[in-house]
Amino acid sequence: MAVMKKYLLPILVLFLAYYYSTNDEFRPEMLQGKKVIVTGASKGIGREMAYHLSKMGAHVVLTARSEESLQKVVSRCLELGAASAHYIAGSMEDMTFAEQFVVKAGKLMGGLDMLILNHITSTSMSLFHEDVHSVRRVMEVNFLSYVVLSTAALPMLKQSNGSIAVVSSLAGKMTQPLIASYSASKFALDGFFSTIRKEHLVTKVNVSITLCILGLIDTETALRATSGILRAQASPKDECALEIIKGTALRKDEVYYDKSSWTPILLGNPGRKIMEFLTLRNYNRDIFVSN
Ligand SMILES: NC(=O)c1ccc[n+]([C@@H]2O[C@H](COP(=O)([O-])OP(=O)(O)OC[C@H]3O[C@@H](n4cnc5c(N)ncnc54)[C@H](OP(=O)(O)O)[C@@H]3O)[C@@H](O)[C@H]2O)c1
Ligand SMILES: *[C@@H]1O[C@H](CO)[C@@H](O)[C@H](O)[C@H]1NC(C)=O
Ligand SMILES: *[C@@H]1O[C@H](CO)[C@@H](O)[C@H](O)[C@H]1NC(C)=O
Repeated sequence: MAVMKKYLLPILVLFLAYYYSTNDEFRPEMLQGKKVIVTGASKGIGREMAYHLSKMGAHVVLTARSEESLQKVVSRCLELGAASAHYIAGSMEDMTFAEQFVVKAGKLMGGLDMLILNHITSTSMSLFHEDVHSVRRVMEVNFLSYVVLSTAALPMLKQSNGSIAVVSSLAGKMTQPLIASYSASKFALDGFFSTIRKEHLVTKVNVSITLCILGLIDTETALRATSGILRAQASPKDECALEIIKGTALRKDEVYYDKSSWTPILLGNPGRKIMEFLTLRNYNRDIFVSN
C-alpha cells in the first residue's frame, strides 16, 4: 500500500501530462470537401461555423426553424466558397423531424463526416419556481434531440471515421443561479456524450466526440439574455466558431473557449479523469467485444 502511494502521484502526473498534451496542428484543408451538418445555423455561433466551413470548402447542410434566415445564410455560404450548401428547416422539438433531417442531409451530401450539434431553445434567466413544463421542453430540445440526431447519424459517421461536436457551456460543468433547466440540459449532454465516447473507445468505434465548453459569447441572444443581470465580458462569436471546428477536426475530447485562461484548468477536473481511467480498468473486457 505504501509503495502504491509512493508511485501513485508520479503516475498520475504522467497520465495527466499525456492526457492534456497534443501536438497536432489544425489546417483549414482538413475540412475541404468534408460533409458537415450544423444545427442552429440561422444565427449566432452556428451561423459563424457555417461561414468558416464554407471558406474551408466543406459541404454544409444547415438547420433551424427560420426558413428565411437559413436561405440567407446558405446564399452567403455559397459566396464564401462552400462545396455545396443546403438547408432543411424544422423544429428540434419534433424528434421525427430530427431523425429525418439527418437522413435527408446524408442523402444531399452523399454521406457525413462531421455532425455539429449547436441549437438550443430560447430560455430567459430567472429563478426556478414551478415551471416543470419548460424544464421538459428544454431537456427535449437541448438534450434529447442531440441524442436522436447523433443516433441517426452514427451509421454514416462510422463509415467516414467521422466526428461529433457537442456545443455546451460553462453551465454544463459548473452551476450558477437563474439557469436551472439550461444547466441541467448541458450537464446531461456531458453525462451522455462522455459515456458514449468511452463506449466508442472500448468497442473501437472510430467516431470522435468533442464537447465544447463555452464562456459568454457575443451573440445577440446571449447579450440580450444577460443584459442587466450578469456582468461579464463576452468573447467574439467568429473566433469561438473557429475553435469549435478546430478542436472537432483534431478529434479532441473537450474544447474550452472562454475569456479566462484559468477556465480549462479549473473546470477540466483531473480528478474525474483519473477516476474514469481507474474505473474503466475494473470492467470485464469481454463485455465489449462483438458489439
Ligand atoms: N452565446 C453564449 O454566450 C453561449 C455561451 C455558452 C454556450 N453557448 C452555446 O452555444 C450554442 C449556440 O448559442 P448561440 O448564442 O449562438 O444561440 P442563438 O444565436 O440563439 O442561436 C440558436 C440557434 O438555434 C435555433 N433554434 C432555436 N430554437 C430551435 C428549435 N426549437 N428547433 C431548432 N432550432 C432552434 C435558432 O434558430 P431558429 O430560431 O430559427 O430556430 C438559432 O439558429 C448553444 O448550444 C449555446 O448553449 C452559447
Ligand atoms: C477509417 O479508419 C480505418 C482504420 O481505423 C481505415 O481502415 C479506413 O480506411 C478508414 N475509412 C475512411 C473512410 O477513412
Ligand atoms: C480514426 O479516423 C481518423 C480520421 O480518419 C484517422 O486519422 C485515425 O487513424 C483513425 N484511428 C484508428 C484507430 O483507426
